[in-house]
Amino acid sequence: MRRIGVGGAQPYGVEVGAGLLSRLQIPQRHVALIHPVDLPAQFVAAVQASLSPTVTIEIPARDDCKTLEVLAGVLSKLAAANIPRDGAVAGLGGGAATDLAGFAAASYLRGVAFYTLPTTLLGMVDAAVGGKTGVNLPEGKNLVGAFWPPRAVWCDTDTLVTLPEAVFREGAAEAYKHGLISDPSLLERVLSPEFKPGGANLEDTLADAIAVKAGVVTRDLTEQGERAYLNFGHTLAHALEAVTDHAVTHGEAVGYGMHYAAILSRNMGGADLTPHTLAFLKWQWPAPLPPLAFEDVTPYMARDKKADTQGVRFVLLCDLAQPYLTRVPEDTLRSAFREWQTAVSGTG
Ligand code: GLY
Repeated sequence: MRRIGVGGAQPYGVEVGAGLLSRLQIPQRHVALIHPVDLPAQFVAAVQASLSPTVTIEIPARDDCKTLEVLAGVLSKLAAANIPRDGAVAGLGGGAATDLAGFAAASYLRGVAFYTLPTTLLGMVDAAVGGKTGVNLPEGKNLVGAFWPPRAVWCDTDTLVTLPEAVFREGAAEAYKHGLISDPSLLERVLSPEFKPGGANLEDTLADAIAVKAGVVTRDLTEQGERAYLNFGHTLAHALEAVTDHAVTHGEAVGYGMHYAAILSRNMGGADLTPHTLAFLKWQWPAPLPPLAFEDVTPYMARDKKADTQGVRFVLLCDLAQPYLTRVPEDTLRSAFREWQTAVSGTG
């Protein structure tokens, strides 16, 4: 088992290892367990046996849970179960479920203790750590939320065994991204045949990928600076998710988006990291993209949260582990888009 520390006003630990869900211990007596309706029953049973929750609340699967309506229902159930101010909420599931559960914890009684129990690779490497919680609005993703760091995170690697291979490979995009922006040793390890559920290098690679995010959010919880670097590849990725109506999943879109960001990075004078991002795409084998024009994605890129009044900004790399934030001229964006399209047409 590995333990990663996250610092800040209220430090906490992220534990990574097999069998954790049946060994949970928390000080609160009254706990509400929140999980998606389609979660394998054995994970829910393991948490119920170790935490003895006062109430277990089922929420819709995947992003369907991240709505104000679902949040309202969860808050009512917390109140009906008399979860007190010194109680806790435990969020079990993928990133959407833990985002919703965390925001319920942040808003119920103006905030109760929150614990994260991620069961997907994407959730472990990204969503569960760093305290971003929230829901979507019809107008856009994550438009309502709060920074509400958990008291502890448990990443039980046994949960990954039930994931379809495509879902595991989707989640690997965030681990690979942590390699590009901070820890290049991860690049080879993520693409290794042993980076798989039950694989020999899974626990250490996962823990080291989480450690990158833990370091960033320790130094910059509220994204005043370097936390934005975690969005490498995400500007085009969010546009691809929106334009394909989520037929391309988040992790797949990040895989595609990292390659675009690597082309931009090189064309803006940085090292050529495109062999890395192309190798990842070939390993990940994402869903193919529909035919797209530059004009299809630009309205979505313009709404990126790193945009300010002067326009959109991209996270680029001078070299491995050397990220920076910059504006990019439109003709550079356009020519890189053409190059990216040619390159990715054979990867999906
Ligand atoms: N997913 C990016 C962040 O947590 O800041």
